Amino acid sequence: MTTVEELSTPVAVVSGGSRGLGRALVERLLADGWRVATFSRNPNEFTETTAEKYRSSFLWEPVDLNDTTAVRGFGRTAAQYFGRIDLLVNNAGVLHQELFLTTAPARMDNIIGTNLLAPLHLSQSCARFMMRDKSGAIVNISSINAVRGYRGVAVYAAAKAGLEGLGRALARELGPLGIRVNTLTPGFFDSDMTATVTSENRDKIQRRTPLGRLGTVEEIADAVLFLASPQAQFITGQTLVIDGGITC
Ligand SMILES: NC(=O)c1ccc[n+]([C@@H]2O[C@H](COP(=O)([O-])OP(=O)(O)OC[C@H]3O[C@@H](n4cnc5c(N)ncnc54)[C@H](OP(=O)(O)O)[C@@H]3O)[C@@H](O)[C@H]2O)c1
Repeated sequence: MTTVEELSTPVAVVSGGSRGLGRALVERLLADGWRVATFSRNPNEFTETTAEKYRSSFLWEPVDLNDTTAVRGFGRTAAQYFGRIDLLVNNAGVLHQELFLTTAPARMDNIIGTNLLAPLHLSQSCARFMMRDKSGAIVNISSINAVRGYRGVAVYAAAKAGLEGLGRALARELGPLGIRVNTLTPGFFDSDMTATVTSENRDKIQRRTPLGRLGTVEEIADAVLFLASPQAQFITGQTLVIDGGITC
């Protein structure tokens, strides 16, 4: 049976919480006493052990960002399971590198679908529950590709820039309903997504970064958790770049 205390414990929805930044966020939020709902396409050791350890405060389901109905449904499932939603982190993203002129139309649709349309659908689904409590926070995870031109990522960059526009417009619309919306724009950080970067490109990134290295998921998670926290309660519609200075 759910206790009164449990019902007042804040609830976070994090997309893509099985690996990388999403996993770090799930771990940190649970350790800080949040209840957390997350999805990815596949379970892994982390999602399975976390489900065993945090039986009543962790929910994982298999959802593909390409499946609009399932993505929208996940917001409802989380709200029904936990009774509320206080935070949404649109974290899951898919990087595909290919020159624009040879990118197949279906691939373009897929990149926009996973990186922009899915967050739109999940945001609407979750915000409808947040507005009932007249409070909530949404943090969208963008990328410095949204603000700097890099070869081979035109469609991904367009999707991430779309997320940044979404954040500003939504902040205006949802602010009066007590919901803050901010964007976190990371530079390169170590995760499965950057594991395939060649050592030559890694050296180049490090040389061009004033702080001389890639970030860590923990450093990016710190910034997400700040934007979600009471310390940021007067911050909305903003974009925080966390990139070791590579775009300065
Ligand atoms: N790593 C970087 O340097 C970097 C830089 C700037 C911005 N970012 C952004 O930061 C965010 C997190 O990146 P990351 O490096 O932590 O990524 P990651 O290590 O590749 O993890 C991605 C997560 O999303 C899930 N996911 C991927 N495709 C999915 C799909 N189609 N449907 C549902 N879930 C899916 C993955 O699980 P499954 O594979 O099981 O589905 C996994 O949990 C992304 O939005 C990314 O664009 C990353």
